[in-house]
Amino acid sequence: MNIAFCSSEVVPFIKTGGLADVAGALPLKLKTHGADVRVFLPLYSLIDYRKHKIKKSPGIADFYIKVNGKNHAAGLFETVFPDTDVKAYFIDCPDYFQRETIYSNESDEAERFICFCKGVLEAMQRLKFSPDIIHCNDWQTGLIPLYIKENYAWDSIFKSTKTLFTIHNIGYQGNFPPETVKAGDINPDHFGPMGPIEWYEQVSFLKTGLMFADSISTVSQTYAKEILTEEFGGGMHEILEKRQDVLYGILNGIDYNVWNPEFDDHLWEKYSFDKIEGKAENKKQLMKISGIEFSETVPLIGLISRMVSQKGFDLIIEQIDKMLELDAKYIFLSAGDGKYEKFLRGISFEYPDKFKLYTGSNEELAHRIEAASDIYLMPSMYEPCGLNQIYSLKYGTIPVVRKTGGLADTVIDCDEKKKNCNGTGFVFEKFDGKEMVKALKRAIKVFKDQTRWRKIQKNAMSMDFSWDISAQKYIELYNKIKS
Ligand code: ADP
Ligand code: GLC
Repeated sequence: MNIAFCSSEVVPFIKTGGLADVAGALPLKLKTHGADVRVFLPLYSLIDYRKHKIKKSPGIADFYIKVNGKNHAAGLFETVFPDTDVKAYFIDCPDYFQRETIYSNESDEAERFICFCKGVLEAMQRLKFSPDIIHCNDWQTGLIPLYIKENYAWDSIFKSTKTLFTIHNIGYQGNFPPETVKAGDINPDHFGPMGPIEWYEQVSFLKTGLMFADSISTVSQTYAKEILTEEFGGGMHEILEKRQDVLYGILNGIDYNVWNPEFDDHLWEKYSFDKIEGKAENKKQLMKISGIEFSETVPLIGLISRMVSQKGFDLIIEQIDKMLELDAKYIFLSAGDGKYEKFLRGISFEYPDKFKLYTGSNEELAHRIEAASDIYLMPSMYEPCGLNQIYSLKYGTIPVVRKTGGLADTVIDCDEKKKNCNGTGFVFEKFDGKEMVKALKRAIKVFKDQTRWRKIQKNAMSMDFSWDISAQKYIELYNKIKS
């Protein structure tokens, strides 16, 4: 089966969040399940060409991509994922991808991803790659299902191509002004009131994907149900309800070659459950460089996240005084929203022995925090899947999470009253700061009893969320869509 996997970010080339982790791992697993899978992403100037040995695709002449009535010079580049023969193709179009950030608030943001959507189809034509399935991910790829059915339908290479659109986060919709219809060469009839691309008088790339894809999936079973509700559907719940017969939830896996304390080169000391002492060494070292005094009996609470309201920062800010009163230390790594950063920077400055905030994006530090922390905090307002709680389980870093989306599907609550609990973390239900603090208190209490804590760590570390199972589910879904 030929699969074209399209994503605006892909590990190890470029990443802002979990989408990149998924796009860098799932295709490799699909390949081991026998699929001929090719990955497509934009050639942002931020990508390190040399490091990734990215070269012009041999035999493919430069071409043009028409966006907003103008032909933009374009080309195709490629490399293989490290230690594999899976190809990644990069759509080069300097007019749109030579920017300082991957995503922007610039007025041509819609054009940038029109360019990407057209670009992947232009690339497939030149590669003579006839995909059975184009697997689209998030709004940046939302026009592909429409283009396949209309603008590019003339090409026999796409005659039997079907599309799957995966929602990684319904909160990001790619809604743009009406001029986008023309810029994207979209049939204007689709933009009538309640038309398949129209969304409150704007053009929605997400809605387009949802309306034109042959099938839709999202990244956990709970989120697949949640997005059918007004609370979680980001306004699109009625659209999804109409397409419910082709909506599936497949939980993300994680790449245990990258996220595994036994082999993690970023750590000060590698460890496993049987050599758990190594975890304490990581805690010691991280606390030392963070200027926080180490204590075996005081838990370190870690958090690594984009700094956005989705991730529950409002609860943290509301409850920060209560959190600082707890017998615990905190190390956070986060990049994003200025208001949260400003506040937490202040806390970091005021309580240097209790709370440390690192800002920016730092892969090595992310691994080190996972390893060094005793507890991992993830109080998300909503969470389509969430990867850090799954990494945490593997690192024996007990997650404290809100029961939503993928968090509900991956973390089993511990009943702290039971001596021998089978849980893997501490779960609270309501999106409420006090509930979060209560869950943290429960975790800290159990932490003080190291025998019980070890049992929970053992439960957590023996969970298996590898991609094998999920990749198999995607293959089954692709087959279903094809038939
Ligand atoms: P989301 O995709 O919503 O951001 P996920 O939990 O699915 O959430 O994935 C987040 C990914 O981004 C994880 O791999 C996490 O380690 C990483 N990450 C988040 N913030 C940072 C940061 N500041 N530095 C390095 N990695 C980060
Ligand atoms: C999104 C979601 C996150 C999910 C990730 C990968 O960014 O916010 O929950 O894990 O995509 O699917």
